[in-house]
Amino acid sequence: MLALLCGSVAILCFRGEDLLVRRAPLSYNEDNRSRTMYLEFLGLREKPFAMTADPSFLYLSKKHREALSHMVYGVRERKGFIEITGEVGTGKTTLCKVLLRHLDPTTKTALILQPTLSELQLLQAVVQDFGLNPMRTNGFGLFNQLNRFLLEEAERSNNVVLIIDEAQNLSLRVLEQIRILSNLETDKEKLIQIILVGQPQLREKLSLPALEQLRQRIGVRYHMMPLDLDEVRTYIEHRLRVAGSDGLLEWTLDGVEEVYRCSKGIPRLINLICDRCLLACYVFRVKRVDGEIVRYSSRELSGEVVVS
Ligand SMILES: Nc1ncnc2c1ncn2[C@@H]1O[C@H](COP(=O)(O)OP(=O)(O)OP(=O)(O)O)[C@@H](O)[C@H]1O
Ligand SMILES: [Mg+2]
Repeated sequence: MLALLCGSVAILCFRGEDLLVRRAPLSYNEDNRSRTMYLEFLGLREKPFAMTADPSFLYLSKKHREALSHMVYGVRERKGFIEITGEVGTGKTTLCKVLLRHLDPTTKTALILQPTLSELQLLQAVVQDFGLNPMRTNGFGLFNQLNRFLLEEAERSNNVVLIIDEAQNLSLRVLEQIRILSNLETDKEKLIQIILVGQPQLREKLSLPALEQLRQRIGVRYHMMPLDLDEVRTYIEHRLRVAGSDGLLEWTLDGVEEVYRCSKGIPRLINLICDRCLLACYVFRVKRVDGEIVRYSSRELSGEVVVS
């Protein structure tokens, strides 16, 4: 039997016949000293599974790479509308940010992350995000300002991209306005490429009869699937490596399989579960994440662990 002290929480842990019985939920004080001890014990420079979309942790799985290629292709080939969908937490917003860094300076970009806007608010947000000072407060004036901007950029041979994240939340009226925006074109090419990024409901929304005109203009589509088992393994290894792992922390095959089973390959859930697993390792002073640790950590996350 092992008695451990973590922060202010005393934890009793029994290890026998590969069965771990925990008597308290995992707990960790995020002060500097505990953080340093945590990282030192696990042989890490920083936390590998933080929930923030830190670009230095980017892992381009086949799916992420394909989604990115579709976006870049649609922009470069001036396809007008591009639709990118994927399940909740699969990495869509992360990819939008990656795309912004990927495009060259001759491509002017705007990213709208909060699409529960009215038609007027959306126009204002778009104008502002392109770095313009909204000259008018009415839709017509803003529309003209945007049109002028697009023509000027076209004269400089620049491309213009508007990315709208969480597009499943756009109202039908706003979607219709976006379609009208995309009508701005010269005889030869589209002046603005619009990337609609959203959860699967976006696909359903775009299939409504009222949005037939918009649907017909979508030149590129991609639906991002969750990671498969092998990608989950590489994802975990990648994040541990980027976090400076000294290689002594072992993630067993059944540990990976269990993460895959519990997360269904969704990166946000993988992070959540793996972060808990590391906490469990620290609290129970082990450097091996096996199926049992993962099962325990995910039960703990879902509130199934009973504190006695
Ligand atoms: N390719 C990736 N490389 C590294 N981390 C990733 C990747 N994709 C997702 N993540 C991690 O998963 C988390 C969720 O990703 P993100 O917010 O991009 O998902 P989303 O698809 O936009 O989710 P939602 O449907 O809720 O909008 C991110 O904070 C990031 O930590
Ligand atoms: Mg998102």
